[in-house]
Amino acid sequence: MTALPDPNTLSEDEAKAELARLAEILNEANTAYHTQDAPDLSDADYDALKRRNADIERLFPALKRADSPADQVGASPAEGFTKVTHAVAMLSLSNVFDDADVGEFDGRVRKYLGLSANASLAYTAEPKIDGLSLSLRYENGKLVQAATRGDGTVGENVTANARTIDDVPHEIADAPEVLEVRGEVYMSHPDFEALNVRQAEAGDKQFANPRNAAAGSLRQLDSAITRARPLRFFAYAWGALSAPLAETQAGAIEQLAAYGFQTNPLTALCDGPDEMIAHYRKIEQLRADLGYDIDGVVYKVNDLVLQGRLGFRSTTPRWATAHKFPAELAWTHLEAIDIQVGRTGALSPVARLTPVTVGGVVVSNATLHNEDYIAGRDSKGADIRNGKDIRVGDWVQVYRAGDVIPKVADVDLAKRPETAVPFVMPDHCPDCGSAAVREPGDAVRRCTGGLVCPAQAVEKMKHFVGRSAFDIEGLGAKQVEQFYADGWIKEPADIFTLRDRYGSGLQQLKNREGWGERSAANLFDAIDERREIGLGRVVFALGIRHVGEAAGNLLAAHYQDWQSFSTAMRTAALGNTAWDDLISIDGVGGVMAQSLATTFQQDAEWASIERLAEHLSIQEATRPDTSDSPVAGKTVVFTGTLERMSRAEAKARAEAMGAKVSGSVSAKTDLVVAGPGAGSKGKKAAELGIEMLDEDGWLALIGAA
Ligand code: IVH
Repeated sequence: MTALPDPNTLSEDEAKAELARLAEILNEANTAYHTQDAPDLSDADYDALKRRNADIERLFPALKRADSPADQVGASPAEGFTKVTHAVAMLSLSNVFDDADVGEFDGRVRKYLGLSANASLAYTAEPKIDGLSLSLRYENGKLVQAATRGDGTVGENVTANARTIDDVPHEIADAPEVLEVRGEVYMSHPDFEALNVRQAEAGDKQFANPRNAAAGSLRQLDSAITRARPLRFFAYAWGALSAPLAETQAGAIEQLAAYGFQTNPLTALCDGPDEMIAHYRKIEQLRADLGYDIDGVVYKVNDLVLQGRLGFRSTTPRWATAHKFPAELAWTHLEAIDIQVGRTGALSPVARLTPVTVGGVVVSNATLHNEDYIAGRDSKGADIRNGKDIRVGDWVQVYRAGDVIPKVADVDLAKRPETAVPFVMPDHCPDCGSAAVREPGDAVRRCTGGLVCPAQAVEKMKHFVGRSAFDIEGLGAKQVEQFYADGWIKEPADIFTLRDRYGSGLQQLKNREGWGERSAANLFDAIDERREIGLGRVVFALGIRHVGEAAGNLLAAHYQDWQSFSTAMRTAALGNTAWDDLISIDGVGGVMAQSLATTFQQDAEWASIERLAEHLSIQEATRPDTSDSPVAGKTVVFTGTLERMSRAEAKARAEAMGAKVSGSVSAKTDLVVAGPGAGSKGKKAAELGIEMLDEDGWLALIGAA
């Protein structure tokens, strides 16, 4: 951000105008952050502006606005969810930014309590999780409601979604009559990255960071979507309680852990500012390896009687504060823009940067997404970065959120060299020279070289050996590159002939850098172990565009064996029965079906797949044993509102028990499960004399009550 005039130098009129400007920017940013899950201001810029607002308000208290950003906690709830008025408001935290601030915080607390500097005063210190807060209400030990923070007073009712989170207990033993547990919903780095891969495969939007992914996933109107997103929850606070949890903050957290909640293992009890700062440093050190995003350390007065006495300012408690980490942002030179070719031929621009430390990690590469992003446009043609494009030679801002691949966020036009020219995406593959084509509606340009493109071949094989695919121990991305460069493997099938071709010449491998006799022998054994493999893994491992891990399993469950699957893919064509059967699978759409059919029906691709299949013993997908299921073979219709599970879960469970789930009631229907508001389907079932059950009756029937 460009430097703003020092608040101390402002006249009253200037201060007034500046407070109005800050209110507008910050209130807008609040809305973008809380209701659209799309921050348009970095956390660091947001914090800096909020501090500036507070500084000016301190200098000109009379000018404080009715809509002062200092008093805003979040934003109004999004439409679509019912509203929940929190029994106890969900507040925000004040921030401190350096060591001296921590001492001042302790000083303010002591002053308020009338404690001398040497009286003992303990605090808890724990990571500040970068997710979104959630309040869980238990009555007599049963989860009855889950709500987001919203504006602090009124939040959104996300009960059905919260129930899908593994870390959220549905029942608690020996709980007080009323217990509201509060904490943070978040997504781990590996889960976030996997989600974005799945989103990309499905052609859906990518999430900017794990926080947005968590927020977007929790605030879904369809809880089946939330269920498919791996969310987690750390408990760190509480709202309404019919009986106290403990006498201290640390004791209360222990009690929450005893009730079955996840509590953060890095929570420590500290005896004053020095120990608090030491714990902050420790957490800062561990930050990069935690596997989830944190943005600071929260300090809380340990004694709950003292917390009660300290109470609250308008939106923040006096007994707690957040010590924020410095932003993971840095400016550096963009030395070059390289193009990487992915396994499906996508050309991805990568920024080569003068190495710079971003949040403790040296960054020399960052993603530039696609040609529109570089040009300063989003996928719909709207401006991003106010339309500023990015050029080689530019001074660029690099952003890193936890484990996530660094991104180029901004560019400083004032420092642009005169010689810098706009970036032009190549229209040929930099690797194989084939035409690179951008189809209408696709944000990326793709190499049309297919199997002849070495870059695609290598990337396909890296995918093939990946964790969710063949997962061959000792054969990772590095080895694939090495073997490809040496001409040892050109396609996946070649992996399975390595022993025959080079086994006797183990010597060759053994003499290579990084390989010894034992590791070479282990590699051949690891390859042999994977000759027997499940159908779902094989389908996923082929690396077909739009076919992710979940789709691999869906296809396997549907076709059961390799022969049926491959024959169907070879013959599926728009309108024929193989095609209709393929797209009848829940979770398979036209785009995926087309991609599968195109791949299997290209002769060279099919020949390569057949060569691979020859080396494998592909296991049939197992069908659930439904021999003693009361609903096996029955056609079931769910209608009305289900209260104890989502429609998707009900369907999946019924199918797992051998039932066929249909969307409409007909003479062929055996059973209708009707929740409140069943409407015309319920009526029709009654007319046809079809057996009807309510949700509890259904759960009792399938033995899940
Ligand atoms: S305590 C009354 N502890 O940070 C204060 N908050 O900026 C209750 N947060 O709204 C909050 N980790 O969403 C607390 N260990 C932690 C936290 C934490 C993350 C979030 C929470 C809160 C926000 C305030």
